Amino acid sequence: MAMKKILSMAAAALILASCSQTTEQNASSQTPDEAVTELMMSRRSIRQYKDSAISRETLDEILKCGVNAPNGRNLQAYEIRVLSPALIDSITAAVVKDNPKIGERNGFKNIFVNAPCVICIANDKNYDMSQVDCGLLGENIILSAWAKGIGSCCLGSSARWINDSPSAKPYLDRMAFPEGYELLYCIALGYPDETPNAKPRTMSKIIYME
Ligand SMILES: Cc1cc2nc3c(=O)[nH]c(=O)nc-3n(C[C@H](O)[C@H](O)[C@H](O)COP(=O)(O)O)c2cc1C
Repeated sequence: MAMKKILSMAAAALILASCSQTTEQNASSQTPDEAVTELMMSRRSIRQYKDSAISRETLDEILKCGVNAPNGRNLQAYEIRVLSPALIDSITAAVVKDNPKIGERNGFKNIFVNAPCVICIANDKNYDMSQVDCGLLGENIILSAWAKGIGSCCLGSSARWINDSPSAKPYLDRMAFPEGYELLYCIALGYPDETPNAKPRTMSKIIYME
């Protein structure tokens, strides 16, 4: 009886092993098309993060993908600032000082959906395509991060709060954007602590024209 049990356990273990092997084989046999499509379709905005920091090496790789994005006339009409944890806290304190309601949210840690890592992106207001450059830069950052298991959230609100808070002005000054540049949006980054469902999208905005 005991032998029968051991044999059936061994058989189960074998089946499990072969299942995981199949999964691994499938993952490695994905075509680039399948891998990129899966990456883009599985990405979600993440608003709950683990505390774990992203290593500098990983951030460098992500940012390298970011600046490899297409951009108008290769002018690279953006400026990028990566905030230290101390700056995330100081900027948060400054914004909350001017807008106390923002800090009253449940579980509030910072004005960047509580992310442990924040990238600020500014655009050149004198170049009419600079917002496109910044958007494409950001999408490359977001997808590169997602491929590494790192979640993100584009944040227009945080940039607005920073731009509109007099108490945050010293921090904007420290970002030292060149003349004519303005903080456009932020990207929160961190290891995800949630798995949100996809929000519905419509294809009805697409018209193939004859
Ligand atoms: C330009 C821009 C600004 C956004 N600003 C915010 C924001 O301030 N706060 C926030 O929680 N999410 C923000 N988002 C994330 C969107 O809410 C999110 O992308 C959208 O709901 C679709 O969900 P998904 O990213 O999970 O597919 C922003 C996204 C973009 C592209």
